Amino acid sequence: MAANYNNSAWFYDSLARLVYGKALVNAQVYLLKHIPENAKVLIVGGGTGWILEELVRIRPSGLQITYVEIAPNMMALSKKRNIGNNQVTFINDAIENIDLIADFDIVLTPFLLDNFTNENLIKVFNRITILLKPDALWLNTSFQLTDKWWQPVMLQSMFILFKVICNIEASKLPAIDKCFEEKHFKLVKQQCFFGEFIGARVYRK
Ligand SMILES: C[S@@+](CC[C@H](N)C(=O)[O-])C[C@H]1O[C@@H](n2cnc3c(N)ncnc32)[C@H](O)[C@@H]1O
Repeated sequence: MAANYNNSAWFYDSLARLVYGKALVNAQVYLLKHIPENAKVLIVGGGTGWILEELVRIRPSGLQITYVEIAPNMMALSKKRNIGNNQVTFINDAIENIDLIADFDIVLTPFLLDNFTNENLIKVFNRITILLKPDALWLNTSFQLTDKWWQPVMLQSMFILFKVICNIEASKLPAIDKCFEEKHFKLVKQQCFFGEFIGARVYRK
């Protein structure tokens, strides 16, 4: 599936910081407090892996994390992160290609789902859903459009940039909210960041 950010690994975080300041980080860190102690955590599309170090600040030990990232260069950077006393299994593959035991308490999809066409979003979404225990939490951050003129401009610029550099498949936002609704996930908490362009949401299965 074409959402591999390999070519952008060396500049991704710097560019994100330049354009969004701390908003991308704040949106993801806002969700981390919902991770229970000793949880079995699935992280899909963690990028350069800075999220692992933010996790250590909140849960320095006891987490069993499975970290799935398709881009080898992103994975190489992720493996260098401080993981504290948490246990991390790194898997360099696409989430839809791997078999995992379906007993996760929580999944994080930080800016993952907005990279797919609707057709592939449904495949990835269904794959992740079956890996979750009943009552598991899904912590999702995505871009969203809320009637501000500059949001579609920024969104299209990002899609064009990452299409050219990384050949990502999406050229418009897929229907992410609809996936959660159709699978009967309950929205537990949400917050917007960066002029409502970023939505951080906690769902319960
Ligand atoms: C937009 S980047 C976000 C990176 C990171 N979460 C962040 O916020 O800095 C999306 C990440 O998901 C990874 N990815 C895309 N499709 C994937 C898939 N099917 N399975 C696993 N990882 C995937 C990409 O390689 C990329 O690192």
